[in-house]
Amino acid sequence: MKSYNIPRHFIILVMSVFLCAHAGAIETVCSPDGKLVLTVGIKNGKPQYSLKRGNETVLKPSFLGFELADGNLSDGFKIVKTYRDSHDETWQQPWGETSTVRNNYNELKVNLEEKKGLKRKLNIVFRVFNDGIGFRYEFPQQKNLTEFQIMDELTEFAMPSDAKAWSQPTNGTEYYEALYTCEPISQKDTVSTPMTIEVAPDLYMAIHEANLTDYASLNLTPRMSKDDTPVLVAALTPWQSGVKVYTKAPCVTPWRTVTVANTPGGLITSYIALNLNEPCQLEDVSWIEPGRYVGIWWGMHMKDYTWEQGPKHGATTENTRRYIDFASQHGFKGVLVEGWNYGWDNNWTVNGHEFKFTKPYPDYDFEGLQKYALSKGVRLIAHNETGGAAQNYENQLEEAFALYHKLGINCVKTGYVNILLDKKELQHSQYGINHYRKVLEAAARHQIMVVNHEPAMPSGLRRTYPNMMSGEGMRGQEYNAWSADGGNPPYHVCILPFTRGLAGPMDFTPGIFNFENKAVPGTRPQTTIAKQLAEYVVLYSPLQMAADMIENYEYHPALTFIESCPTNWDKTLVPLAELGKHVTIVRKDRDSNNWFIGSVTDENPREFSLKLDFLDDNTTYQMTVYEDGIGADYKTNPYPLNIRQETVTSLSEIKLRLAPGGGTAIRLIESKK
Ligand code: NOJ
Repeated sequence: MKSYNIPRHFIILVMSVFLCAHAGAIETVCSPDGKLVLTVGIKNGKPQYSLKRGNETVLKPSFLGFELADGNLSDGFKIVKTYRDSHDETWQQPWGETSTVRNNYNELKVNLEEKKGLKRKLNIVFRVFNDGIGFRYEFPQQKNLTEFQIMDELTEFAMPSDAKAWSQPTNGTEYYEALYTCEPISQKDTVSTPMTIEVAPDLYMAIHEANLTDYASLNLTPRMSKDDTPVLVAALTPWQSGVKVYTKAPCVTPWRTVTVANTPGGLITSYIALNLNEPCQLEDVSWIEPGRYVGIWWGMHMKDYTWEQGPKHGATTENTRRYIDFASQHGFKGVLVEGWNYGWDNNWTVNGHEFKFTKPYPDYDFEGLQKYALSKGVRLIAHNETGGAAQNYENQLEEAFALYHKLGINCVKTGYVNILLDKKELQHSQYGINHYRKVLEAAARHQIMVVNHEPAMPSGLRRTYPNMMSGEGMRGQEYNAWSADGGNPPYHVCILPFTRGLAGPMDFTPGIFNFENKAVPGTRPQTTIAKQLAEYVVLYSPLQMAADMIENYEYHPALTFIESCPTNWDKTLVPLAELGKHVTIVRKDRDSNNWFIGSVTDENPREFSLKLDFLDDNTTYQMTVYEDGIGADYKTNPYPLNIRQETVTSLSEIKLRLAPGGGTAIRLIESKK
């Protein structure tokens, strides 16, 4: 007789899926590996869900529903039907922190209907991955719910305990540019997502959203439950009218995502938010190019140059040629030029409607410079500061992008300093979300990549529109030029990868080498030089800027790291991390077998051993280490940098020595066989 050798874990998986799917009136659905179990049911007419990992509670029963302008849609429900599905595919990212992404989940769709009255219908779709869950509401086409206004989304995330969490406050924060702080959930005001929670030393969660389309951004407000544990309740960003979302059925909400990991690093290497976005909509992505850029930028923030016309105007033809020459000599693909176009002269932060996106200043030969750049293998990046005048920008989008495309410009950096003026709406309101989408779609039509400053928080749209390259939505390098508190504290970049970075690529713009600041003495990067280098690996962006003025790079030995550091990766690993204290990220280049390591610490010095067991076996690598030199200290002595070389293999274990506020950047080049 034939004997079949069925692996034990397969039998357990099949049994757990069977048990999950047949647990009675309430419905359950498991992750493909059977470890996460989501339960959905109706309690006193109200829909609710909960989540477990094995025996551990990840989310306690949490209510779902809406407050609409004409009455709540959260009560009196019955389950009419449920559907189940499973999915397992692997897809390729045109660019990213990893080449391939596995999209593997079990799905449960619950169709609800009010038992009495209008008998309105609401469906909720849950997807359970091995590393978290996503769920969204569907408003199906129906007679008693056509056009409607959402006054509040009532989605809850009921926490198992008053765990500590990292987030930034929504109220009083502009453009998501507050520092992330860590405190117990109960002590927080309304916060923006991503919010990252340490439930236990081996249980980390991040709450955010995916595919934010024609809807308002998600924020969370804690309230205490009867048993004294916090419940995070959705708090959507409103229009001026107080309404959160104007919509009509049929429609869907963005996905609400809860990433679940054993380690903080597991949050970084989870791609469920991308999986919950639609596949790429662009037929041709060959024009989309990750890479490095320099720019006429830091000079303005240091007050050496001005954006507006005058004796210190930065965006002159002569100055831009210098930047193009430098970019070409040092392998930078782009040159960002700010202050090149009309609109900066008359208090631009309140007169954004004066910006002209096709009209260069007289001392800036826009077309000639772009031709010169192309002749040197470089492209200009057109800066489109709008001053928040979104409508003025929309009016000029087609003409401006058509011109840029004709000239061979393939990237814009957009900016929205001020609220979205014409309507006085917030960046992260439904109005803002729809504006950013118009810009992104227009850019895609004209083969233009977008780097979005003062954005809405990213939600993974880069999967659908891979021309959505990078963005701000955080306290970036510019705060190290002019902020009254002296610059970003050393722990800042030890938090960003676990919070803002979970939403999408960060245009943080590392690479300041000269820490002198005549304009705001005392304010400067609160890092060592080695940490500036490590940020190129730690803070992911497919377009990475070398942010300093080029004169500060000439002949600087540290520039060789930036010149060699890729911006497109095949793999990302996080071997060491303590959220807010230190993080070490390892990435493999997309186009070679070379690896790069970035390690950063807060104000404390640290020493680690790192096994290089991720390297290919039977291969030697030439390792170049850029580390804090003797006496380096972010506060007293940020400049000492030690560069050394060694030959290593996958069996090697190396020491990382980080100064206070310091870092280490490492390049591992495969030796030719
Ligand atoms: C704020 C942006 O973040 C910065 O990069 C830019 O230089 C200024 N706005 C001016 O647009």
